[in-house]
Amino acid sequence: MGPPGAGKGTQARFIAEHFGVPAISTGDIFRANVSEGTELGLEAKRFMDAGEYVPDEVTNLMVRNRIDEDDAAKGFLLDGYPRTLAQVEELDGMIAYTGHRLDGVVCLTVDQDEIVSRLLQRAQVEGRADDTEDVIRRRQEVYLEQTEPLTEVYKQRGIVVEVDGMGDVDDVTRRVFEALDGLAES
Ligand code: AP5
Repeated sequence: MGPPGAGKGTQARFIAEHFGVPAISTGDIFRANVSEGTELGLEAKRFMDAGEYVPDEVTNLMVRNRIDEDDAAKGFLLDGYPRTLAQVEELDGMIAYTGHRLDGVVCLTVDQDEIVSRLLQRAQVEGRADDTEDVIRRRQEVYLEQTEPLTEVYKQRGIVVEVDGMGDVDDVTRRVFEALDGLAES
């Protein structure tokens, strides 16, 4: 978990590779559907372009289908899901059904100016439709309103590690693994 631009996608790849599980990014799946022009993509695009969350029913169904795939049978890493209380509840139901459990929640913390600068820089390279200054600000607001409070739910379960996401990518990765080791030992 972490605000837009915190480095979730970047770090998710390293964590997933280390544990030999797929990194499941709801943002990436939505973007792939937008590129392919699917019905899901058309529906998601108007929310994404405005920096708003795609409705829970759509997102939950998509994640349910994805974690049902064979490569996720032994475990998976979720990047950018859950982001609402309804998604937390849905995920609890899904993993109870599949027999998995949530081992840990990594929360990346980054200061707001750094995030805006990272995303504006990415905009120049990748041209993501939601990487404009106005939409970045809206994404930050939505995160603070709807997602940040959820970390409390997971803190109460004792599975949250907070990791400083500032600095070099490699340093952040090292901190993530140290934090996960600490969680495994606790
Ligand atoms: P999503 O794609 O998940 O976007 P996001 O949460 O806004 O996050 P980003 O992908 O922008 O950032 P990130 O934290 O992954 O950082 P990254 O590693 O990419 O979701 C997009 C949209 O889809 C949402 O707005 C919503 O509409 C919809 N959606 C997705 N999930 C949903 C859900 N569960 N429910 C409802 N709607 C949902 O890094 C960012 C940049 O910084 C990159 O260029 C990277 O190279 C760079 N960078 C990373 N780490 C560092 C570092 N340490 N130093 C310098 N640069 C760095």
